[in-house]
Parts: sequence; structure tokens; C-alpha cells
Amino acid sequence: MSSKSNEAAKNKPETSKTIHSFMDAVAWEAEQYAADHTSPMSPLLEEIENYTLNETNYPSMLTGRVVGRFLQLIVTLSGATNVIDIGTFTGYSALAIAEALAVEGRVLTIEHNSTSADIAQAFFARSPHGTKIDLRLGEAINILQSLPDKSVDLVFIDADKTNYPAYFRESMRILREGGLILADNVLWYGRIFKPQDEDSKAVAAFNEEVNGNDRAEKLFLTLRDGLYLIRKTPNSPLSPSFSSPD
Ligand SMILES: C[S@@+](CC[C@H](N)C(=O)[O-])C[C@H]1O[C@@H](n2cnc3c(N)ncnc32)[C@H](O)[C@@H]1O
Repeated sequence: MSSKSNEAAKNKPETSKTIHSFMDAVAWEAEQYAADHTSPMSPLLEEIENYTLNETNYPSMLTGRVVGRFLQLIVTLSGATNVIDIGTFTGYSALAIAEALAVEGRVLTIEHNSTSADIAQAFFARSPHGTKIDLRLGEAINILQSLPDKSVDLVFIDADKTNYPAYFRESMRILREGGLILADNVLWYGRIFKPQDEDSKAVAAFNEEVNGNDRAEKLFLTLRDGLYLIRKTPNSPLSPSFSSPD
């Protein structure tokens, strides 16, 4: 680049576009850096990652190392033993959760695509933690509605976006007091800021419903494509949201 255009470029006012591409560049580099500075996952999870990135049509649907490790830490730190994984795909999040669960722990993972379910099941069969995983083939909302109240410790929401609000309501019903929800893709690639399509409108509505729910303690994490960490607050007289049971 000639010194003249160098000079011109240097003096060109920073446009939001420039900042955006700079942020995208930083975001991408930060993502790489975060993955490289996060504990590696098990060889089988790394194999699922490679398989998904190279052999499937939707590699971007994979949860991946950073969110996978975050899930494992939440399982370990919370002591959760009864977990629901909504959206199995090739099995990454379900197996990551199972690896972090204690021996008596169980994860119910739900998938409506039988091809993906078969792929995931084949990986689970090769893991010493596979016996902790119960894969249910079917529509997630129907299976969630069949579960009893207050019977679950943690729910990971990572399936069809249009159902996110319904998954939140069902999760708040089946969770025990103090139970946790982790919802993935709550930034939805930035489309939530000006939602146009059904998926973006549903994720934006989900975020508003969570934000407005006074039985939910919430933390919106801008990790990868956005992760919402939600705790169902106990219905105690001390909590502002107390509603007397009688
Ligand atoms: C983002 S992927 C899940 C990624 C996975 N959690 C992982 O760790 O890589 C979403 C999955 O949810 C499944 N899915 C979408 N809508 C569903 C529904 N209504 N009921 C059950 N599964 C559904 C899709 O077939 C897809 O495999």
C-alpha cells in the first residue's frame, strides 16, 4: 500500500462497519483463543466433534469444547444428578453431561431426527458413561410434558428455536426449586436485535420472558452464540416472588 493511501487509511474516520469487522475479527480470534485455553474434552468427544465438522451437513449446530466444558463444570458444581438435554444431534452435549455426572446420575436426551439419533447412540455405546444416557426419539415438547413436576435438576435447551418459550415454561415446571436451565444460541447470531424471521422472534421472545420472570434468577452470557444461565428460585417467603401455596 502506498504511503499516501496508508496515510489516507490512517486518517479515515472509524466507521461502525470497520469496528464491526474488527470486532468480528477479534470475536473469531477470541473464540479460537478461548477454545485453546479450555481443558481438552475426552477423546470420544473430540471424535464426535471431528465427525460432526467433517461428516454432517450442519456442523455449526455442534455445541463444541467451550460450551461443552461450561456444561460439565455446571453439572459438577451444582451436583446435578437428573438432567434433560433438549436436542441430541450427534450426541456431544449429552455425552459431555454424562461424563460429568456421578455414577448414579442420568441424562435424558431428546431428538426427533432418527438419523442423528442413530449416530449419537453409536457413540454413546462406545463410552463407559453411555449407561447414564437415555435417548428418547420424538418431539421434545411432548416428552417434556410427560415428565413430573419438580423432578429435574438441570435442563440444557438446544433444539428448535420456535419452541424456546415453551421449553422455558415446561422446564420451570419440571425443575426442582433451585434447579438450573442453560439455553444455547440466545444471541442467535445477532438476529435477536432486529428479529425478522420466526426463529429470531421466538428467541427474542424467550429472552424477554426469562428476563421478566421473577421466579428466575438469570445471567445472560455472551459466550459463543449466547448462553442463558437461569436458576429457578425457591418459592420461599423470603424471596420477592413468594406465592403462598395454599
Ligand atoms: C443445535 S442441534 C443440538 C446440538 C447438540 N446439543 C450438540 O451438543 O451438538 C439441535 C437438534 O435438535 C433437534 N430438534 C429440532 N427440533 C426438535 C424437536 N421439536 N424435538 C426434538 N428434537 C428436535 C434437531 O434435529 C437437532 O439435531
